[in-house]
Amino acid sequence: MLSYQHAYHAGNLADVQKHALLCRMLEYLTQKDKPLTYIETHAGRGLYRLDADEALKTGEAAQGITRLEAGFPAGHPYLQRLAEVRARHGAAAYPGSPLLAALSLREGDRLHLADLHPQEVAALRANLVPWGAHVRAEDGFAMAQALCPPMPRRGLMLVDPSYEVKEDYEAMPRFLSTIHRKWNVGILMLWYPILVSGAHREMLAALTAVFPDALRHEVRFPPARAGHRMLGSGLFVVNPPFGLQAEAERLTAQFAALAATPG
Ligand SMILES: C[S@@+](CC[C@H](N)C(=O)[O-])C[C@H]1O[C@@H](n2cnc3c(N)ncnc32)[C@H](O)[C@@H]1O
Repeated sequence: MLSYQHAYHAGNLADVQKHALLCRMLEYLTQKDKPLTYIETHAGRGLYRLDADEALKTGEAAQGITRLEAGFPAGHPYLQRLAEVRARHGAAAYPGSPLLAALSLREGDRLHLADLHPQEVAALRANLVPWGAHVRAEDGFAMAQALCPPMPRRGLMLVDPSYEVKEDYEAMPRFLSTIHRKWNVGILMLWYPILVSGAHREMLAALTAVFPDALRHEVRFPPARAGHRMLGSGLFVVNPPFGLQAEAERLTAQFAALAATPG
């Protein structure tokens, strides 16, 4: 049984990195007047509250979005999405990636989401079906295989596993290669933790061998609490859209400025 619940981690530094780059990519993709598909294999619940017991217990959002928000340039699409979510759901609301995508997409675009945790799927349905999303209570890897190549063919897939199952590291290069073979124009965005143990390194070496032109962006940060094994977070993007490298560099500088400011 899966025990990971994103409510404890929503709005943390890893979320800010992932969600800021995701919003920028969706901004690029929606500039063209052509429909697109958004697929998310590990969706979570789509909407969180930063004043919920889970968020307050870890304090990760307080170290994350609360401290980083002021560093985004005015008009950044992530700031726009945050403002929209707060206007609809209150000042303590924080959007998960499916809601960020739903807010970025247009009529005619498609949204496919999967999660395996019954509680998360119920909340995801309540939060995202009103946006026209197709929500499945099934293994996200299986959903992605079944959907690809999707219609419309332009689009993006976010793969954001909780890595509770150690085999996820081993499976990822094979999984992304299979998806890329079926959907060679799709943008594939994989999130991974940077761990004290180095468990992510072998996966990255294998991914880089298959996708030498992918964009890799990593940020480092202090452990969320004493003994925490995560030292930072990374994104591996196959078929990165033009402009993403510049946005990634801007984000690196933003995280570096935060590290230099006592929290
Ligand atoms: C890191 S959270 C997702 C957070 C979300 N992407 C966001 O940024 O808002 C990972 C989610 O994956 C779900 N999960 C774990 N294994 C899965 C699988 N094989 N297929 C689909 N969902 C899975 C967990 O229940 C959890 O909700």
